[in-house]
Amino acid sequence: MSAPIVFSGIQPTGRKHLGNFIGAIRQYVEGQDRGEPAIFCIVDLHAISVAYDPVELRERLYDTTAILLAAGLDPERCILFRQSDVREHTELTWLLSAVTSHGDLNRMTQFKDKSAKQRELVSAALFFYPVLMASDVLAYRATEVPVGDDQRQHVELMREIARRFNERFGETLIVPEYRIPEVGARIMDLQEPERKMSTTGGTEAGTVLVLDEPGAIRKKFGSAVTDSGREVRRGDDKPGITNLIDIHAVARGIDPAEVEREFEGAGYGDFKPAVAESVIELLGPVRERYAELRPDQAALEAILAGGAEKARAIAAGTLAEVRGRMGFGPA
Ligand code: TYM
Repeated sequence: MSAPIVFSGIQPTGRKHLGNFIGAIRQYVEGQDRGEPAIFCIVDLHAISVAYDPVELRERLYDTTAILLAAGLDPERCILFRQSDVREHTELTWLLSAVTSHGDLNRMTQFKDKSAKQRELVSAALFFYPVLMASDVLAYRATEVPVGDDQRQHVELMREIARRFNERFGETLIVPEYRIPEVGARIMDLQEPERKMSTTGGTEAGTVLVLDEPGAIRKKFGSAVTDSGREVRRGDDKPGITNLIDIHAVARGIDPAEVEREFEGAGYGDFKPAVAESVIELLGPVRERYAELRPDQAALEAILAGGAEKARAIAAGTLAEVRGRMGFGPA
């Protein structure tokens, strides 16, 4: 089997949380050794689909770049770039909109959730968001898209868009597969474990940030909502404890069943501090490395510029073919 072409994108919010880390970032790091190439994009164009501040956007973009590097992405082994540097994404978005069904966009649950939260303007960009996401991936003919569970519907839509394009204009685009981790695909808020962890939709105390100090992490796990009972075991009736077991398992690199065995007979009082410590061990080195990398903005910029150049070379080839197939340019 040939090596996969790995592609994923992440929003430049800077406040990356444990859900992003477990559901996505750790898969990127693993993917960079399998992907040929592995491509990771910080999606600043997506960020403008909701209210934002231009000065902040730039800062958060560097924050996110530094977090990804601190987590282990290596510009020698992957392509890391800023979405807005590669204009092919925006052009392809328009071209793909010709084979995107309005009804499909209307069914996107993320659009429904996010549009309900907008106070002033529900932008057309928010509605078009999944088409831009499709063009991110399809421009590189990626075969594999590592994401958390909340992006499943968006990846299904891009598969549909690629299929429809190929049917209409001839085999051009690759229909990508998603790669969703078996454990940790949906990390839940520690305070409201029926909601996913999120910096926009979750609770402050229930959201563990990648850059949180050990003290803050201990406090958040210490006050994590658990369930009645005291058994450390997974179950639909125990969303809080199930979430903590999954987090502990991923942080320690073991199976959830092993966590259950290890804590058999122990109560929540022993378990919660153990989870906190394993998360501190997981995120501590990332926070330290981040502190070293973030101040050197020129170095971050050089990495992004180098990545954009490589990305552009690939995307331009796809665009030339797409344009030709669609009837643009000289005969
Ligand atoms: P974003 O920036 O919201 O999230 C980045 C990644 O983190 C995953 N994730 C989670 N995983 C587990 N538990 C959670 N609570 C959790 N919250 C977030 C997300 O699934 C995602 O993989 N639309 C995308 C960015 C994007 C993209 C792309 C992704 C733009 N273009 C092309 C893949 C391919 C987003 O907003 O991710």
